[in-house]
Amino acid sequence: PAGEAVGDVLVDWYAGAARDLPWRAPGTDPWAVLVSEVMLQQTPVRRVEPVWREWLARWPAAADLAAASPAEVIRAWGKLGYPRRALRLREAAVAINERHGGAVPADVAELEALPGIGTYTARAVACFGHGSRQPVVDTNVRRVVARLVHGRAEAAPARATDLTDIAELAPADDARAVRFSVAVMELGALVCVAGSPRCGACPVSDRCAWRMAGSPAYDGPPRRV
Ligand code: ADE
Repeated sequence: PAGEAVGDVLVDWYAGAARDLPWRAPGTDPWAVLVSEVMLQQTPVRRVEPVWREWLARWPAAADLAAASPAEVIRAWGKLGYPRRALRLREAAVAINERHGGAVPADVAELEALPGIGTYTARAVACFGHGSRQPVVDTNVRRVVARLVHGRAEAAPARATDLTDIAELAPADDARAVRFSVAVMELGALVCVAGSPRCGACPVSDRCAWRMAGSPAYDGPPRRV
């Protein structure tokens, strides 16, 4: 609908189009969300799903992982790749135990202070784990913003304004703003993909700055992918 704000259109689209991923189930606890985000940093969803389930069955809380040995943790990480992430995740569990009594903090600065948790992961955990209104910017979101807002084919090297660009599009209602953050990620993962986007399936193609400019080719500085 042309009169509806872009944020609301994306939230409504997400309700019907989103993948049913286990860490998105309502009530998933923040620790389980944190584990999913670390696993998803460099590994595709399909490979993460079974390992995430086994991992949480074995170590349901940060305190459980903190008590495991580094060798056990590396072994359970299996084929996810970049096994240093497993050790960092264990270190994060130790820090959560020591600094936060075993409960994953909701504060972005406290999350960013944990081993292995950067700008993206801290906001993803605050937003998807704790339901707090946060802009969450990954590679997919940067590409959506580049096209929808800035009329460029692909994202330029990381821009400090990405967080504010996306925050400005979020619906006023907090619960909808939380779903909006994951909806933009999902749009970038399923529709507004790199290379040849599926604009015919895009709920906001009618207001996309890139489409309105005639879908020009990328002309910016070398991309950080
Ligand atoms: N939902 C929340 N974060 C996600 C991610 N990194 N990949 C896929 N789905 C997600």
